[in-house]
Amino acid sequence: STEQTPPRGAFIVFEGVDRCGKTTQCNKLMEHLKAKDLSAELWRFPDRSTESGKRINAYLAKEVEMSDEEVHLLFAQNRWEKRQTLLDKLAAGTTLVVDRYAYSGIAYSSAKGKDTMSLEWCKAPDQTLPAPDLVLYLEVSAEAAKARGGFGGERYETADFQEKVAEMFEQQKNAVWVSLDADDSPDEVHDRVKAEVDRTLTTLKDFTWLPVLR
Ligand code: TMP
Repeated sequence: STEQTPPRGAFIVFEGVDRCGKTTQCNKLMEHLKAKDLSAELWRFPDRSTESGKRINAYLAKEVEMSDEEVHLLFAQNRWEKRQTLLDKLAAGTTLVVDRYAYSGIAYSSAKGKDTMSLEWCKAPDQTLPAPDLVLYLEVSAEAAKARGGFGGERYETADFQEKVAEMFEQQKNAVWVSLDADDSPDEVHDRVKAEVDRTLTTLKDFTWLPVLR
């Protein structure tokens, strides 16, 4: 047969503190991928539509209380539920643009600073989940974050806590991370996002396997 296996889709994750502009950038990237005629889907974690997601939503809305340890595991479960679908989509050639992943789980939980929840403890439940090809980290300066303000009433939405979260994101940077200055205009940020994603898409021709989170 002359049929060629199509390259797998790219697994692209956006990370950053609340209100850093991730949603805007995800939408702009989706338009870019569609314009290139690529099969792509936009996902987000937490996925609030599943059973675990509904409990997470109630927790974030402060409708229910849960221990910090329990909710940490629930966020991880919410990702594990999606593991097989995620792998199937990538194998079928669909690129996934994912708004938050395990790095958020680790950053928000470890930012609580509890001695029962070390960085290692926080990392464990997500270990061996598929690892992304590219993490686009939207970095906001503390001043810009304060100026943006306008936090909603959800749990975690305070400037002090977000600053700690940013520190915990910094500690997780690795070879596939690219930090983007989120204080730039949305179009400037998008230009860099496009360049990084296009570069990542070309590297996928060379390998089909997906690494796992360590
Ligand atoms: P969202 O605003 O992107 O929907 O995320 C909801 C909140 O949940 C946000 O404050 C980040 C937080 N979060 C965690 O604490 N752990 C996680 O694993 C994820 C994905 C998000």
